[in-house]
Amino acid sequence: MSAAVPWKTALVTGASSGLGRGLATWLAKRGVKVYAAGRRLELLESLAAEAGVVPLQLDVSDGDKTFAAVSKLDADCGGLDLVIANAGVGEETRPRKLRWGSIKQMIDVNVTGATATLCGAIPGMMERKRGHLVGISSLAGLLPLPANSAYCATKSFVAMFLNSLRLDVEPHGLVVTSIHPGFVKSELTAKNKPGSMPFLLETEDAVERMGQALLRREAVFSFPWQLSGAIGFANAMPRPLLAAVLKKVR
Ligand SMILES: NC(=O)c1ccc[n+]([C@@H]2O[C@H](COP(=O)([O-])OP(=O)(O)OC[C@H]3O[C@@H](n4cnc5c(N)ncnc54)[C@H](OP(=O)(O)O)[C@@H]3O)[C@@H](O)[C@H]2O)c1
Repeated sequence: MSAAVPWKTALVTGASSGLGRGLATWLAKRGVKVYAAGRRLELLESLAAEAGVVPLQLDVSDGDKTFAAVSKLDADCGGLDLVIANAGVGEETRPRKLRWGSIKQMIDVNVTGATATLCGAIPGMMERKRGHLVGISSLAGLLPLPANSAYCATKSFVAMFLNSLRLDVEPHGLVVTSIHPGFVKSELTAKNKPGSMPFLLETEDAVERMGQALLRREAVFSFPWQLSGAIGFANAMPRPLLAAVLKKVR
């Protein structure tokens, strides 16, 4: 088993694949009792066999059910120490091929689902005066991008929700982390054109960076630095110049 961590129990949503599966494994290896949530039960069961997590079938797109399920889990397990709202979906939004269903799903999962997941744990954590709340935003939540209006907006929401929430809950002993990954290999990015993802990271590498950031109790963690730095630079550009640059990546 790896070095000790400050959490005994954790909930990770979107744990059936990609970053969520990696994070659930990373935590379980360190002795954390992990509740691994997602819709695809067979994948969660295979993760349970591999890493000893507890599978939890949950569709986070229903906010009311998600809030109730997380509240119940928090009460039943004696208190969640760490909640990672990781479940997310992403698709391009092109105005000429607009698909409302796809935009609605991004809002339901990335906004409603993530918020309900985190909110379900807040009352219990406030009472216990401890707990770590984590949302997986994206570097795409920090810069407007062509063909990604809905995805960028949902990820901006996650970041702003967490950054504002931190002001309210940190004085009560809670920790809040907003994570902004760049491109990481996963089912989500497998549909992107090869070569269109600068500084693409292996899943395991990204998971290790995220795990270490959580141990450092970082408020905001953006990576890799090359892409995060470029986004900082882009945001400092005059808007017309930035718009001209972004048109070229359309
Ligand atoms: N990969 C990247 O480059 C990257 C970059 C920045 C941010 N992110 C964010 O990182 C997070 C994880 O993404 P990933 O890259 O690891 O992609 P992924 O492999 O596609 O994983 C997405 C996970 O979300 C779950 N999910 C989707 N819809 C759900 C729903 N309605 N209810 C419950 N769970 C649902 C999926 O599980 P089920 O299908 O089993 O429900 C899956 O486990 C997402 O929030 C994504 O936006 C990824």
